[in-house]
Amino acid sequence: MEKGVKLKTFKIGIIGYGGFGAFLHQGWKQLPQVQVTAIAEEDASKLKGLDGVKITSNWRDLLQDPDIDLIAIVTPPSTHETMAIACMEAGKHVFIEKPLTLTVQSAQKIMEVRDQTGMAVSTDFIMRFNPLIRELRRLTQEGVFGKLRRVDVENYAQDEQLPLDHWFWEPERSGGILIEHGIHFFDIVHFLSPSKVLTVNGLHHMRNPRQEDQVLANVVYEGGLIATHYHSFARPGFFETTKIKLAYDLADLELHGWIPLWADVKMLVNAQTKKAISSSSFFEVFDSTPVDRAADESRPSGWGLADGGEFPRRHIKSGGLEYQVEEVLTGKFNTGRSKEEVYTSCVQDSLLDVLQKMDNPAHLLTAPLEAGLASLEVAIRATEFNHRL
Ligand SMILES: NC(=O)c1ccc[n+]([C@@H]2O[C@H](COP(=O)([O-])OP(=O)(O)OC[C@H]3O[C@@H](n4cnc5c(N)ncnc54)[C@H](O)[C@@H]3O)[C@@H](O)[C@H]2O)c1
Repeated sequence: MEKGVKLKTFKIGIIGYGGFGAFLHQGWKQLPQVQVTAIAEEDASKLKGLDGVKITSNWRDLLQDPDIDLIAIVTPPSTHETMAIACMEAGKHVFIEKPLTLTVQSAQKIMEVRDQTGMAVSTDFIMRFNPLIRELRRLTQEGVFGKLRRVDVENYAQDEQLPLDHWFWEPERSGGILIEHGIHFFDIVHFLSPSKVLTVNGLHHMRNPRQEDQVLANVVYEGGLIATHYHSFARPGFFETTKIKLAYDLADLELHGWIPLWADVKMLVNAQTKKAISSSSFFEVFDSTPVDRAADESRPSGWGLADGGEFPRRHIKSGGLEYQVEEVLTGKFNTGRSKEEVYTSCVQDSLLDVLQKMDNPAHLLTAPLEAGLASLEVAIRATEFNHRL
């Protein structure tokens, strides 16, 4: 569905108007085909300046409101299942914040009710609507980078705005870091390069009996992809950084930002893949060197065959596969937009996707509940592994 095209007005109710509920409302207000008609917030006394929107502290009031087509659930994860099921049974379409819910059984229950009621229901995997991630997915699927072998997520988030009594630290309400936040990054891997999960393990650190503040998960996928996800909610905002390294057979990429905005790239190309990459409006070339003249410092000078450049360097092997390459390119993929702009466009597109499904049941959702369940399963396996340690 096009952002600027107003075909008809979709009326939206939001349950939960904390940090993210307010951000969604701000982004959705800019969409001509969307009208937020009602907000249910437990602590309704904190809502200010919402003229023209019905306010209630009881989320069940939204269920019978004929002035609502879709309900967005933006409350802590432990509440999602009950709310989602009640909404669907009341005949409302539903937009469920990530994580979909906290257990596999609960996710399956939500999916069963979706199938029984025929409602359009999605989970808010915003990364799937990030133009940078979408571009990398397109190029990955075209085989431009070769096979994806390694994903390494390093995420340092602040905990200054997460006081000790915040629901984030309560596994019964949030699921813990890997479920509550890590799920975005498991989903990026599944979106870029879907394959069967073989093994999941990890590590974690408890700062005290309540606060699990550092977690790590390793996931091995069929076909030879190993992903590592490290998340820390422990340091001042000053150090907040997120880097995602993607190592393909023919390319090294490093994405920057928790909402990734740009990526450094070094890759081996041939005429065909160079053309594909050059056609990307996000790509900027810094340098290109024929492979036989490019520096390869993997062996010091004087080391056997490497000395004298006797490798057949245009015919290379990577990950056991053979590729023809001609040049080494360095450059950058850049959205050229701010975090606020990209994040806002992600939440808008995520909503438009489910609105399109409401309009046309044959529409295939970009973030279906099945994707929510797939990443939740990995997050749960890693969390359970860590808690057995
Ligand atoms: N997709 C994303 O990028 C993203 C980003 C942030 C948060 N989230 C998700 O959004 C959800 C909410 O997170 P948040 O950061 O806004 O939390 P928050 O604590 O800031 O806000 C949650 C709000 O829900 C309200 N609430 C709780 N139970 C309620 C109930 N029964 N009825 C009505 N209101 C109720 C609370 O009073 C609070 O205002 C979580 O699932 C979180 O994972 C998603």
